[in-house]
Amino acid sequence: MTTRPAPTKAELLNRPVEHVDITRFDARPILQAYGRTAFQARNLARAADIYSMMLAEKDCGVILTLAGSMISAGMKHAIVAMIENNMVDAIVSTGANIVDQDFFEGLGFRHYMAPGSPENPAIADEALRDLAIDRIYDTYINEDELRECDDTTRAIFDALPGGAYSSRELIDAMGAHLAANHPDIPGVVLACYRKRVPIFVPAFSDCSAGFGIVMHQVARPEPGRHVAFDSGKDFRELTALKVHTKATGLLMLGGGVPKNFAQDIVVAAELLGEAAPMHKYAVQITVADSRDGALSGSTLREACSWGKVDTVHEQMVFGEASTLFPLLASDAYHRGAWKGRREMRLANVLESPVAAGR
Ligand SMILES: NC(=O)c1ccc[n+]([C@@H]2O[C@H](COP(=O)([O-])OP(=O)(O)OC[C@H]3O[C@@H](n4cnc5c(N)ncnc54)[C@H](O)[C@@H]3O)[C@@H](O)[C@H]2O)c1
Repeated sequence: MTTRPAPTKAELLNRPVEHVDITRFDARPILQAYGRTAFQARNLARAADIYSMMLAEKDCGVILTLAGSMISAGMKHAIVAMIENNMVDAIVSTGANIVDQDFFEGLGFRHYMAPGSPENPAIADEALRDLAIDRIYDTYINEDELRECDDTTRAIFDALPGGAYSSRELIDAMGAHLAANHPDIPGVVLACYRKRVPIFVPAFSDCSAGFGIVMHQVARPEPGRHVAFDSGKDFRELTALKVHTKATGLLMLGGGVPKNFAQDIVVAAELLGEAAPMHKYAVQITVADSRDGALSGSTLREACSWGKVDTVHEQMVFGEASTLFPLLASDAYHRGAWKGRREMRLANVLESPVAAGR
């Protein structure tokens, strides 16, 4: 009996994840049908209605929050289409989505479909370790390329004057890097840089940028000579946007830190004595549920007790986002409520001398 040779690294990294293009299919009939059914199908249809209501209210700032691994899972082009068509005005995300996955792809790298399934992986993780392949469920990443991503974030920090920056400012610098060096690779960071949509990553060291900042700071230990992450500034900036836009809607994929961070700006604005209403619209797609006892599955109604989310237009949808989000996004894209909206260019608002506290 002959044994098959173990697959090589090149053989394992030969099926790139292809991003779903929500402009090429029209989910409206599916959502309309779902609206006359029950369970999560009807919840998704109601969530889609609420998202289109946010877009129809042209002065309502739409904040997209991202947890989990949405970009490596093929959601990038859907989010880019939303940014380019003024369907998103600000983003709050984990670093994994923005740096390890989107900026990483912006550098020319890809995610790959792993053989088998997460429940039954075809290749042992010890073998992947030997080949320097990282696994996210059923997706592979070339770790050598991830190291290049770490090094690029370090180079971006090295090029900046020492001082404390919000993640939003540093991700903008990453967007400038992509615009200068990889202008033709579509991505969230690049699209946001061009459309002046601010991206906030409250836990910015918990991703590839964290490796970059460690290398950068260790090489320049003297205070004042290195870049530092200012998480307080992130919160202050996003709060300033809440005060600036007044009406806001949340579209949340997953839970985690982005969910709470985006909700808390209402309370922060109130503490500053500003007249900022609760988030008027809120939709969350999540696999977490209230049995967890955790933030990710806490209902949007509960958020009302904290003064964060109004209860009139809110909808939880329980399910995995890679299956549900493309339908919701395609429905909104084809309904076209975004056509009456202007570019808010909120990153520019933050750079104005008044908002920047100068
Ligand atoms: N996700 C990664 O692959 C990865 C990689 C490197 C670093 N990190 C870091 O880990 C930290 C924690 O990340 P996190 O907050 O995204 O944690 P997380 O992935 O646990 O997501 C938070 C919650 O969101 C929900 N969720 C996540 N993915 C979902 C999906 N596809 N569909 C529906 N609901 C979903 C789940 O309820 C989950 O508990 C972050 O700082 C991140 O940068 C993550």
